[in-house]
Amino acid sequence: MSTTLQNDLFIKAALSQQVERPPVWMMRQAGRFMPEYWEIKNKYSFLEMCKTPEIAADVTMLPVDLLGIDAAILFSDILVTGEAMGGDLSFEQGVGPRFANPVRTWKDAENLSVDCLDKLQYVADAIRVIQQRLDGRIPLIGFAGAPFTILSYLVEGGSSRDFKLTKLMLNNEPELVHLILQKIADLTIAYLNMQIDAGVNAVQLFDSWANALSWNDYHTFSHKYNKYILANLKRTVPVISFAKGASVFAPVMAESNPDVISVDWNADLLNIKKSLPAGMAVQGNLDPFIMYADKPVIKAKIHELFERMRGENGFICNLGHGIMPDMPFDHVKYAVEVIREFRY
Ligand code: CP3
Repeated sequence: MSTTLQNDLFIKAALSQQVERPPVWMMRQAGRFMPEYWEIKNKYSFLEMCKTPEIAADVTMLPVDLLGIDAAILFSDILVTGEAMGGDLSFEQGVGPRFANPVRTWKDAENLSVDCLDKLQYVADAIRVIQQRLDGRIPLIGFAGAPFTILSYLVEGGSSRDFKLTKLMLNNEPELVHLILQKIADLTIAYLNMQIDAGVNAVQLFDSWANALSWNDYHTFSHKYNKYILANLKRTVPVISFAKGASVFAPVMAESNPDVISVDWNADLLNIKKSLPAGMAVQGNLDPFIMYADKPVIKAKIHELFERMRGENGFICNLGHGIMPDMPFDHVKYAVEVIREFRY
């Protein structure tokens, strides 16, 4: 696949091959910090945008055309798997995601469907439209939420500050949790393989809330299922594993054998990379909040990271987490320019 790409820096870095500069993309690169996003968002709901392939493609292309990043990421959300399984999902302005029918009992868990890939067909359709639009310019990243992170939304019924109900279930009813995690994992394997068949050039597994877990619980309730997913993916494209708290869990994540581990900004990226098996790449790890700072500071922080990583193959530049809606667009654009001008 990479041979047909005009810009394959991202794929090369993911496979730890030599590149002239680090490739860059940013989590939530298509979103509310862009005026052009609002022009579309004002006409449709977020889920309508995700479920209409032409619109999902329009939004996916915004940062490609306006920022000049080195990889596009499918416009969708990790929670669509929870919706396909039976979750009554909505996104309300200012409230965030909500499942109106949280999964809290054995009966709720038994009602979750696994055989529901047909409900996610719109994602495969969107991937095909996006690939036509990209026309080989840069690679397209597909993604899914990791089972523990999806579980937390299903159990809490939405976002949570402390994951109180999820952790209560982990502690008091681990067998119930395992039933739900297994179902999510089985759907996620089918879902990511469907995205690979539809033509994505890489996939990322988002375990955004792994940092809520203790070391032992991470092994039991997160790593076990992520490893099972990675073992059952068609490994024809690079696989990126992301966790918030990845700096703590990186050595464990490495056991599931991703091509790339995506790290948050607490870590020294070079030290993490050196602790991983040879040939495993890293992605990260700028503090997203530098995007609020003055431009010379943005430049200095990027160069600081790049100097630290100088000489390392297998480094994809990204933020430790997503772009915030109120980050100045011209600062994000400037950051991408600084990265693109850099040469090892
Ligand atoms: O990164 C991208 O540009 C690609 C698209 C993408 C979205 N969500 C679009 C989105 C991706 C990869 C995601 C992943 C996602 N969604 C994660 C994992 C990454 C992470 O941030 O840790 C999580 C935890 C979610 C769940 C989710 N979706 C939340 C918590 C929210 C609300 C966020 C907020 O700040 O209000 C969403 C909504 C969402 N997903 C938006 C976008 C562009 C905003 C929707 C809107 O326009 O109102």
